[in-house]
Formats: sequence, C-alpha cells, structure tokens
Amino acid sequence: MKTVFSGVQPSGNLTIGNYLGAIRNFVELQHDYACNFVVVDLHAITVPQDPAALREQSESVASLYVAVGVDPQKANIYMQSHVPQHAELGWLLTTLTSMGELERMTQFKDKSSGKESVGAGLFVYPSLMAADILLFNTDLVPVGEDQKQHLELARDIAGRFNHRYGEFFHIPEGYTPKVGARIMSLDDASKKMSKSNPNEGSRINMLDAPDVIRKKISRATTDSGKEVRYDPAAKPEVSNLISIYSEFSGLSIAEVEQRYEGQMYGPFKKELAEVVVSVLEPIQQRYHEIRKSGEIHEILRQGADRARETAERNLKLIYERMGFIPKA
Ligand code: AMP
Ligand code: TRP
Repeated sequence: MKTVFSGVQPSGNLTIGNYLGAIRNFVELQHDYACNFVVVDLHAITVPQDPAALREQSESVASLYVAVGVDPQKANIYMQSHVPQHAELGWLLTTLTSMGELERMTQFKDKSSGKESVGAGLFVYPSLMAADILLFNTDLVPVGEDQKQHLELARDIAGRFNHRYGEFFHIPEGYTPKVGARIMSLDDASKKMSKSNPNEGSRINMLDAPDVIRKKISRATTDSGKEVRYDPAAKPEVSNLISIYSEFSGLSIAEVEQRYEGQMYGPFKKELAEVVVSVLEPIQQRYHEIRKSGEIHEILRQGADRARETAERNLKLIYERMGFIPKA
C-alpha cells in the first residue's frame, strides 16, 4: 500500500483555505493509502507561540481531523512531537540542504521580511518538513498550492540522499486540488487566506458560528461592478467567492455563474453564506462532541504508537546508510 503524509500547523484557527486545500482531501485518501495526518507542533514554534494557546490549538486541529471524517482506525492521527524521529531525521536532512535552497523559499521571505529578528528555525523549517514526509517513505502529499515549493525541496533532498547513499527514498508527489488549492483573503484577493492574518475579517474559520460566517461574507470585498462572473484577472475578489461557492456546493464554476446571471452581489453572497454554513455546521457539531468526550487523547496516543514503529524502523536504516554505527 502506498503512503500518504500531510501536516497542519497548530498556529491558529483553521480556515476554509486549510479545509479546501488540504484537510478535505485527507478523507478520500484514507481508503486507499496508509495515511499519516499529523499536527505539526514542532513547525508551529518556528514563530513565537503562547504555550496555553499552542496546547489548545493542537487539540483543536487534531479534533478537526476527526470531525471532518478522518477515521483514526484507518489513518494515524498524531502530534509530531510525540514521534521524536521527526526531529532526528530533520537534523540529518538539514545537513543535506544548502543555504541557497533555503534562501529561495518564498514562505521564508514572506514571513521574515521586515522583521528585526528572525528565528533560525524558520529558516531551516523546510528540511524538517522534508523529514516529515521522507520518514515514512511517503508517495503522496496532499497540500495546498503554497506548499509546492517546500515539497519540491523535499523531492530534491530525497534524490540527493539516494544519489549519495543508494536508492532508499521514494520521490514524493503532491496532491493538490484543482480549484481549492489557493483560497484568497476576503479583504484582499492578492493574498492567500491565512490563519495568521491579523484581520479576522480576512478569513472564515472552520469553527466560526453561522452568524459570523454570514457577516464576514456580506462584508467581503468586491469590485464596483455587478456581474457574478469568474475572471480572476479582472475580478479577483468575486472570482475567489465563486471558487468558494463552487467548492462547497459541488457546482462547477460555470453553473454558479449561470445561477446568478443578471443578479447582483447581494443575493449571491447571501446564498454563498448558506452553502458554507450547511457544510461547516455538521462538522462543528461533531467537533464539539469530540472535544467534550476527551477521546482525542487516546486517538493521539494510538496514532503516535503506530507511527513510531514505522519511523523507528526507517530511521535505523537511514542511519546505517549514512555510516552511523548501529546501536548494540
Ligand atoms: P498551514 O495553515 O500553513 O499549516 O497549512 C496547512 C495546509 O492548508 C497546507 O496544505 C496548506 O497548503 C493549506 N492551505 C493553507 N492556506 C490555504 C489557502 N488559503 N488555500 C488553500 N490551501 C491552503
Ligand atoms: N509546512 C506545512 C504548512 O505550513 C505544514 C507541514 C509540515 C506539512 N510538515 C508537512 C505539510 C509535511 C505536508 C507534509 O502548511
């Protein structure tokens, strides 16, 4: 069976960008692949995190995986820090990564630009991400568009290892949805929707109450025109809303355009909010049940136990290939 790995950082409330770009796809992949869906807490601390908030968000992300329909019996759901082999392999692969490669990462450039002091962890983060993926000899990585460059680096590092130490790693492929791969901010369609944007109105969180969702969508920026028409160059904001509509309703872009032909933005936005609410509400209900039951701790324990077994076995082979003396 082929292997899938993906991770989400517990660095804020998950948005519908995370849902459409990544998490929603986890559910369909779990039937045909050996899956690891991980809350990557070691990644989250590459920027400062409040300890109490980190704990809460970690439990929240893990519970959301289950709430959207990831089955903990089928897929390993666990905290990255509970499987220490991630950090170990992260170090080994950092030594196979060049400064130049890391300097080219656009996410690093974005996150560090204008900052007086930038943590070294933020810089080397892509080699930890490569380790996450390669630790399980992963074949497929479901991620949004913004992670493509990091995945490309993981592929390069895998190839470099294979060249130097003999074939070992599979070269992982990305699995990116056609439309939902890049959901943009509601206030500025030139930026991706992000859980770390200081403007709350820029995103819809998976856990936003229905009235909050309605309000955010009604206030979403639109151009001064009238037509509900998909044209990302000329009408980026409306096109983003049409994408969201299409993804949440299952209608094609053309079908959405057709439905609102001759209508103004008002009715379109109103119905868009209802479409989003109708998908998120049942997920939120399950989420609250899961949180209340406390079951997530046992799910995380079992997921980490299973993942650790594979991780230990693979890491031992990697050390051997590199010339480390095996433990007696
Ligand atoms: P992050 O929030 O950076 O931990 O991202 C977790 C996953 O969600 C990654 O696969 C991202 O590519 C994906 N993702 C984050 N933001 C968006 C967005 N605005 N549109 C589509 N996918 C996204
Ligand atoms: N870097 C990813 C993000 O910010 C999160 C991540 C860490 C990840 N390790 C991963 C995604 C491994 C896929 C596979 O979204």
